[in-house]
Amino acid sequence: MKRLSIFVSGGGTNLQRIAEYFAENPEVEIANVICNNPNAYAIERAKNLNIPCKIINRAEFKSEELSKELLNQKIDLIVLAGFLWLVPQHLIDAFPNKIINIHPALLPKYGGKGFYGEHVHEAVVAAKEEYSGITIHYVNEHYDSGDIIFQAKVALEEGETPDSLAAKIHTLEYKHYPEVIEKLTIDN
Ligand code: GAR
Repeated sequence: MKRLSIFVSGGGTNLQRIAEYFAENPEVEIANVICNNPNAYAIERAKNLNIPCKIINRAEFKSEELSKELLNQKIDLIVLAGFLWLVPQHLIDAFPNKIINIHPALLPKYGGKGFYGEHVHEAVVAAKEEYSGITIHYVNEHYDSGDIIFQAKVALEEGETPDSLAAKIHTLEYKHYPEVIEKLTIDN
């Protein structure tokens, strides 16, 4: 049995999707949700999914106590799902190659500080890119720059807006993130 900790900051639709994907799988359990935003709808989702949710402030996030707690809880994989803070070194050291993130663009383009959620799609549409997509990657001490595990792309169409692109990207995320997580839990 592999135990996941899912980190969220916002709406939590990826959290919802991942939880539903693994609901019938006895090999994978979402042990907890960690949220840095007390107003995030993801908290409500965690409650409805019966997953313990811990709300943390910046000091708690930076404290090694968090690593200790997650190690004590025997977490195998930390999954960032729309989580917007830079991951501190203590977590990276405690969970080497065991923290992954999903980014709503084809990294290395449109990554780094400030590129999250709708801001990414606005920039991609403004640049009239032919394609965008998703990147699932390991997390290191910099934003959006760890080794890439998986990418999938989608074409922009005539009249594409940031909202319509966001919907396409979410569809890709819901399909591939749970599958990549499942594969990583089997391989590790
Ligand atoms: C997702 O599209 C995810 O790729 C993005 O935030 C959204 C969260 O949606 N993450 C980033 O931009 C990270 N840089 P959700 O809360 O509904 O899952």
